[in-house]
Amino acid sequence: MPVYDFAVGQTNPDTFPVEAFKNAAIRAIENENEAFNRYPGSKGHLGLRTAMAEREALREGVAVDPEQIAITNGSMQAVTLVGQALCKGPNNVVITEEFTYSGTIAAYKGIGLELIGIPLDEDGMRVDLLAEKLKELDNQNRLPGFIYTLTTYQNPTGTCMPLARKRELIAVAARYNIPLVEDNCYGDVHFDGDKVPSCFALDDSPNQIYIGSLSKILAPGVRLGYLLARGEMFDKIVAHRFDAGSNYFAAAVVAEFYKNGIWDHCEVANHVLKQKRDLVCAGLEEHLADTCVWSRPAGGLFMWLRLPLDTDMQKLTTGANEQGFYFAPGAAFHVDYAPVPYIRLAFGHVPDDLIQEGIPVLARAIQNARTSNEPKNFSRLFD
Ligand SMILES: Cc1ncc(COP(=O)(O)O)c(C=O)c1O
Repeated sequence: MPVYDFAVGQTNPDTFPVEAFKNAAIRAIENENEAFNRYPGSKGHLGLRTAMAEREALREGVAVDPEQIAITNGSMQAVTLVGQALCKGPNNVVITEEFTYSGTIAAYKGIGLELIGIPLDEDGMRVDLLAEKLKELDNQNRLPGFIYTLTTYQNPTGTCMPLARKRELIAVAARYNIPLVEDNCYGDVHFDGDKVPSCFALDDSPNQIYIGSLSKILAPGVRLGYLLARGEMFDKIVAHRFDAGSNYFAAAVVAEFYKNGIWDHCEVANHVLKQKRDLVCAGLEEHLADTCVWSRPAGGLFMWLRLPLDTDMQKLTTGANEQGFYFAPGAAFHVDYAPVPYIRLAFGHVPDDLIQEGIPVLARAIQNARTSNEPKNFSRLFD
């Protein structure tokens, strides 16, 4: 039986640049073997920091000093370090979107932080509701240590926050002097539409903290991400790492691979990913238009699918899995793990023919998990 694996967010193995990467590894070993004998320090490989500073500066239109960057063990390490550094003692509250990356939820809960989720709409975190929540928390003397936000190709919902709302977000956080942590893990996995600058680019305050990754434009197995912060904020966060630095060998190979710029490979990979997104959309349109609403992300690796309330989520999971179809349940991305009527489809690594075959399998499983044949009674992704 074929396996339709839409569960985990992975890059497309077909566009991994095997030859170019192999040659980069040879050059890195020839040129940098002497440095492999030393510990890399908490900032890491200068060549990769310089390449990532350029990447951010070019995309975001902001000056980035490689000395403001620390290379981490995937962006996940940066996510965790920020939690450890900015929530101390009784101040263990973090604000996120109501739906956010499941790994972040697990990491923050794992280090004892309390997550408060702010509802989203099609433009990302509802900043009006954030302002209300901060007022309430301020009255209780319980302001958060920071706000963690996925403003671009939000995981899992695929939303992008427009410029005006980003400016409001920055202003609301500044009102209470709260650091804003923007995790741009999917930066450069872009298909269409305008690119809005990051909060880090819009505001030069040390309260702007930015996280990037190589996992989504290259491969998660390289385990390389980075933290960007200014002045004492940078030092405060990096002081929490005790791992003697990240993998210098991997960083040297990736820096070599990107020596002539990162955009060529991104273009090749994004072109294929965009086709996959369109195939998922076309399949959903053909088979689930009466039943569901879904996001059409301008970038990233996920579609967020809203189901009718009469869908039995357990029955759906079992029924789909029996037919070889796997997805991530919405509850995994809810800050309180609430059993919400959503699922996330990760399409980046699924071969095109399995996308085309798989979506009808999902549609049948949804139909079988419902108690009625009624058409959906909602037209939007969020209420
Ligand atoms: C929003 C977000 N942040 C961080 C990560 C962690 O990525 P990595 O540690 O591979 O860079 C992911 C992975 O899916 C993610 O979706």
